[in-house]
Amino acid sequence: MTHSVRVRAPGKVNLYLAVGAREPDGYHPLATVFQAVDVYEDVTATRSDRLELVLTGRGSDLPVDDTNLAIRAARLLAAHAGVEPRAHLAIHKRVPVAGGMAGGSADAAGTLVALDRLWGLRLPPVTLRQLAAQLGADVPFCLMGGTAMGTSRGDVLTPLLARGHYTWLVITQRSGLSTPRVFRAFDDAATRRHVPPPAVDARFLRALAEGDTMFVGMNARNDLAAPALSLHSGAQQVAEACAHLALPTIVSGSGPTIMVLCESDEAAHSLGAYICEHTGAEDAFVAHGPVPGAQVVDAV
Ligand code: C5P
Repeated sequence: MTHSVRVRAPGKVNLYLAVGAREPDGYHPLATVFQAVDVYEDVTATRSDRLELVLTGRGSDLPVDDTNLAIRAARLLAAHAGVEPRAHLAIHKRVPVAGGMAGGSADAAGTLVALDRLWGLRLPPVTLRQLAAQLGADVPFCLMGGTAMGTSRGDVLTPLLARGHYTWLVITQRSGLSTPRVFRAFDDAATRRHVPPPAVDARFLRALAEGDTMFVGMNARNDLAAPALSLHSGAQQVAEACAHLALPTIVSGSGPTIMVLCESDEAAHSLGAYICEHTGAEDAFVAHGPVPGAQVVDAV
């Protein structure tokens, strides 16, 4: 019997994020390109007589009650499989909290994979993906990893051919942004113009497939960038500094984390030192993509 399982689940960046007009259910149709990056949440699930969650690392002060997405993932999986939701979950968090990099979604994806193994369920991947989609729009991608196109709410995924490796400088802020609030700011601006159905530019997909990383970096698009920056002066300051240096820069998802495509780890480190010195950024660190989705790294 398995006693303890450790899973590594990646955060993500949206290389492309086209947003359509708000639908009656409040969600927005998306056409997005996700890339999983090597900023990992470590989820360790151990046998226990009850369900409990302990967080360490970034966001260790987040709630660990039934509002936590990892707890919701455990309860959903247990209800689906008809087992008691009993496990000790320890999550070491590295993905910036409320930063637009899907940290909470990675926790949920990692929990599904860890408990599927701990409880000996062996559910087919398609079932785990369906459960993931019930937990949040980004959770299925954190399961899948790599590079993928997301349509509908961002949860209908198609793996993409993508060559090349990307080195990112990840620039974080002390305060986060609420995703619904950023979508609302998008809606406010959208009332003043026509919002076409979202689509990913064909030249962008070709550059991804060919490994033209610089084209991808320079043509990355994020329709949530302007609303996110309008709500976060710190991120706005970083975006302006990067624009001044003519760097290939993207706001990650609904922000406020900003990613800069760099030529090497060394270039990224020195840019990070410059940005932290000249803006109010919290931290800057190097990440790479693409990497695989949530997977078991240890089971005893
Ligand atoms: O699915 P998830 O819970 O991660 O989404 C968080 C919020 O982001 C939603 O409540 C909604 O306000 C917004 N959202 C959206 N359209 C999407 C995905 C998320 O409006 N496609």
